[in-house]
Amino acid sequence: MKPSSFYIERENCFGAHNYHPLPVVLCEGNGIYLKDVEGKKYFDFLSAYSAVNQGHCHPRIIAGLVNQAQKLTLTSRAFYNNVLGEFEELVTKMFGYDKILPMNTGAEAVETAIKLCRKWAYKVKGITENSATIVVCNNNFHGRTISIVSMSSDPDSYGGFGPFTPGFIKIDYNNIAQLEELLLTNPNIAGFLVEPIQGEAGVFVPDEGYLHKAFDLCKNHNVLFIADEVQTGLGRTGKMLACDHENVHPDILILGKALSGGVLPVSGVLANNDIMLTILPGEHGSTFGGNPLACKVAIEALSVLVDENMAENAEIRGMQFRDAISNIKSEFINLVRGKGLLNAIVVEPQGDINAWQICLRLKEHGLLAKPTHEHIIRFAPPLIINKDEMDSALNIISSVLE
Ligand SMILES: Cc1ncc(COP(=O)(O)O)c(C=O)c1O
Repeated sequence: MKPSSFYIERENCFGAHNYHPLPVVLCEGNGIYLKDVEGKKYFDFLSAYSAVNQGHCHPRIIAGLVNQAQKLTLTSRAFYNNVLGEFEELVTKMFGYDKILPMNTGAEAVETAIKLCRKWAYKVKGITENSATIVVCNNNFHGRTISIVSMSSDPDSYGGFGPFTPGFIKIDYNNIAQLEELLLTNPNIAGFLVEPIQGEAGVFVPDEGYLHKAFDLCKNHNVLFIADEVQTGLGRTGKMLACDHENVHPDILILGKALSGGVLPVSGVLANNDIMLTILPGEHGSTFGGNPLACKVAIEALSVLVDENMAENAEIRGMQFRDAISNIKSEFINLVRGKGLLNAIVVEPQGDINAWQICLRLKEHGLLAKPTHEHIIRFAPPLIINKDEMDSALNIISSVLE
């Protein structure tokens, strides 16, 4: 193995500069741990932005992958395959929907949800063609496509990428009054697209009751409540879905990331027949969406989440994390917030020590986490972390912050 600098320089030379990675070159992952090319071991406290909830290279997921890879990987949806239906049945029964439309990345699933919502608006709600509007929230993060950045309020996401897709209205997150006013005054609103906790924005947890009130408002105005649970879903916040904390059953549910345990890009949109069947054959699709390899991986990824009680563990370990951080005496900590194992520390920069510098020091001490914005560090380990491992990781975090 060559030194880290070799791999970093090669990526910098031949790859686009659309990311700003921490200077660590990883070559192995196992459970909650990662190893770099120099042989140093780290706690993974990012989990690939919550895609690796089940831990790196979970043996059951990898066995499913290898086994299926030797039989059949891709047929396209021009034909049936013998695994897609099994995945569809499992995931729809698990989350209580009639149907799923499988895709690959989170952004594709969000695009799919927008298309589905618009189709429903014209075919069922009776909105005039081309005037359906979807309400989104300021500081959202739903992905990187043109239509998705058209909904963004972050200049880093949309700046220089116009012209933009029309048909979206932005309101403040966690503001029921603004949503209500809009729904009362605009008859063209078809859907409200929301992250149950805003992840990329810095793990913003809305007030208790917000999701429920927003859902009720949507019901009263015949508007679809669309939950983007790409980051918050699949056990991350201590329940299978973050919406479960408020007993909200979204009209359209968007899943991605951990749907494959971080093994392959697998995403999907769930809805009942009255919504899902508004899209007809030939009107939407994807070459890779629903491929047998992805489906097998997703079946295992979902099954291990349940069999190993990962959501329950996330709930308990999350409390351990927030309790311990609240007790650290450090001038750098402004606030700790989160739910389950989706947490963030808001950093009070001191001199030239900011969130990035703290992440570099955490790395030196064997823990990988990443800033989101200048003053927030997200802490999101795989959901399989146990008490002792969390204690060891907390020792690193507290020694760096203190
Ligand atoms: C809430 C949410 N939606 C959508 C996406 C986009 O997913 P992907 O990067 O797989 O396109 C992300 C990615 O971080 C996300 O956090």
